[in-house]
Amino acid sequence: MSWLVTGGAGYIGAHVVNALRAQGMPVTVVDDLSSGHRDYVPVDVPFLEADINDIQALREWMRTHAVVGVIHIAGFKYAGVSVKEPLRTYRTNVEGTAHLLQAMQEADVERIVFSSSAATYGTPSEEVVTEQTRTSPESPYGESKLIGEWLLAAQGRATGLVHTSLRYFNVVGSGEALLADTSPHNLFPLVFRALEEGRAPVIFGDDYPTPDGTCVRDYIHVQDLAEAHVVAAQRLQAGDQLQPVYNLGSGDGTSVRQIMDAMRKVTGQDFEPEVRERRPGDPARIVADGSAAAADLDWRMRHSVEQMVESAWRAAKRIQA
Ligand SMILES: NC(=O)c1ccc[n+]([C@@H]2O[C@H](COP(=O)([O-])OP(=O)(O)OC[C@H]3O[C@@H](n4cnc5c(N)ncnc54)[C@H](O)[C@@H]3O)[C@@H](O)[C@H]2O)c1
Repeated sequence: MSWLVTGGAGYIGAHVVNALRAQGMPVTVVDDLSSGHRDYVPVDVPFLEADINDIQALREWMRTHAVVGVIHIAGFKYAGVSVKEPLRTYRTNVEGTAHLLQAMQEADVERIVFSSSAATYGTPSEEVVTEQTRTSPESPYGESKLIGEWLLAAQGRATGLVHTSLRYFNVVGSGEALLADTSPHNLFPLVFRALEEGRAPVIFGDDYPTPDGTCVRDYIHVQDLAEAHVVAAQRLQAGDQLQPVYNLGSGDGTSVRQIMDAMRKVTGQDFEPEVRERRPGDPARIVADGSAAAADLDWRMRHSVEQMVESAWRAAKRIQA
């Protein structure tokens, strides 16, 4: 009996794999390595290099590895890019999720935990977003994640699939294994790359309706996030009912400029960020109420913003070394 992590060679997936193993839960990984790293997956974890759209390969893998549940993390995650590449986004996040569900149905796998996103909310009017806040995605990426949630729910009604979707807010930092976020569009890696190359890090937009004009986000540590997945998987395996959707956020907002200040402190490098135009698809402020996840998934923020920056910096330096 094992859990299958799709996207387990990516930044978040690799942390989830390690968190499952730390709890003694057998795990296997499927990943097409489009943005993941083969060496993020421990050598003794069975690994299938495949596209989640490959129903036959997934079905056979689930059967031969006695998969009891899937943590579906594989995805195309760039909201800004998705505006220009909607078909690519839908193919991975919508078609890929539908094909994975098809493979699960054929292999009689009845549990799934899904990586959703705060992007499903768009720009919420509430100060703090709860799971009842109206969804109103503003990018093909946000739309594709919402459709992913709907697919799980529809399949649940049709076949009895048990499921929950975790809406992540801004995931940063690194766990003990120093697995870095290498994405070319996320704030932390962008800042680190700029500093490495002797350029000023960029702030995209300082004319948002926020206290310092820069976007406000709810930053969460990837290790805390990974541990919530383990609890979700354990509870589904124990036959417990979970809510269809949980926010994984702290309730605290940090602006891009505040992150830049923390970066300056942690890296010891003095820099003045360059301000450029807003990026399409970036809402002004998103901060979450994580109390439902705290009650059901033992969701806790065990790390400070400074620890997030510091661990991410250490992981990035190791990658670049
Ligand atoms: N990083 C964040 O802040 C954040 C926030 C909200 C939601 N999410 C979601 O979390 C998930 C993981 O994000 P991440 O930051 O680890 O990104 P990542 O790019 O590091 O990981 C995604 C993984 O999925 C794999 N993958 C992509 N398409 C695939 C396909 N068709 N078949 C098989 N594997 C495929 C990639 O190779 C990669 O290993 C994504 O679904 C993303 O939308 C991330």
